[in-house]
Amino acid sequence: MARILAIESSCDETAAAVIENETTILSSVVASQLSVHAKYGGVVPELASREHLRAVVPVVREAMSAAGLQWRDLDAVAATSGPGLAGALLVGLTYAKAISFATGIPLIAVNHIEGHIHAVILEAAQRGTPVELPALAMIVSGGHTHLFEARAAGGYRLMGRTRDDAAGEAFDKVAKLLGFGYPGGPVIDRLAPCGDPDAVRFTSAKMKGNNLDFSFSGLKTAVLRWVESHEMTAEIEVRKALLRATPWPTTEQWLEVTPAATLDLVASFQRTVVDELLKHAVNATDQLEGIRSLIVSGGVACNSGLREAVNSRSVGIPVHFPSPGLSTDNAVMIAAAAFPKFRAGQFADLDAAAEPNLALA
Ligand code: KG4
Ligand code: ZN
Repeated sequence: MARILAIESSCDETAAAVIENETTILSSVVASQLSVHAKYGGVVPELASREHLRAVVPVVREAMSAAGLQWRDLDAVAATSGPGLAGALLVGLTYAKAISFATGIPLIAVNHIEGHIHAVILEAAQRGTPVELPALAMIVSGGHTHLFEARAAGGYRLMGRTRDDAAGEAFDKVAKLLGFGYPGGPVIDRLAPCGDPDAVRFTSAKMKGNNLDFSFSGLKTAVLRWVESHEMTAEIEVRKALLRATPWPTTEQWLEVTPAATLDLVASFQRTVVDELLKHAVNATDQLEGIRSLIVSGGVACNSGLREAVNSRSVGIPVHFPSPGLSTDNAVMIAAAAFPKFRAGQFADLDAAAEPNLALA
């Protein structure tokens, strides 16, 4: 029997989890900082570090007590070492080092993106339908939009990545522009079904070089041009006022202050992002030999339009999404990614550095 405690603090959630033997989740605690950053329309790195410092000890304590464990019951402690915000990463990694030093259990450094991939591998194994390798892993979050080949022999190969904004970043920037606050993905997701996705035609980015690379900044600019040419200042101000009065408006409240033409814009924007993601996933599976499954993970994997599109258009191979709770940042995924390293004895030194630009491949 082996148990790993993991800590995640790369962006704006402080999370801790304990898992036993690869797939049994003994506890999972996530303290979100969304309410701290929402009024700034995005994550403020200095505030993130401060909030992680406040939260990390109680979050770890809660994860340990929910699992009913003492330090001596652990076999290793893992933490995200990158990629992410330097100051934020340092908090979780340093605390994990302190636990390792004080208890004598080994330290495991985990790549955050590998964590998102392992969230899916863990849940597929729990369901009795393990992810078949080699797989194509599409990681779509606020900070990342990557396509990797996850090889059967272990390791990853980078197939494509965004050249500018990440997919989640595009959701967040467009939502902010339209007065829907932060984070934008969940709001756009809820409103998109109320609009006509064919109403506004956005052209997809033409990539020179690697056709599996993404670009979302042109789409963001196209939405901005649309807003500028449609006299939307008044309605945007009304939505901003709603947000000041009610930090997390319901879908009904948003619908009261959002005209049909804006819902059409939102639906068309989401459709364009979803089509772009799906097109790249299909192209990559066509270009790679013998891909046996598709993994979609990261915050944008919550998007219902993306899930519907993937499920309705036959991709030809099994597709695995994480449950919503494991799509956004959490520590279960870090513990899951730590297990193969634990089995292989791949431990980190106490001088391991936080690496904001850590690459997976
Ligand atoms: O994985 P995550 O929690 O953090 C990063 O590693 O970045 O992803 C957060 C991102 C945000 O950009 C958020 O707007 C987006 O995921 N997101 C969504 C949805 N839920 C969260 N985007 C589209 N539709 C959603 N339902
Ligand atoms: Zn993430």
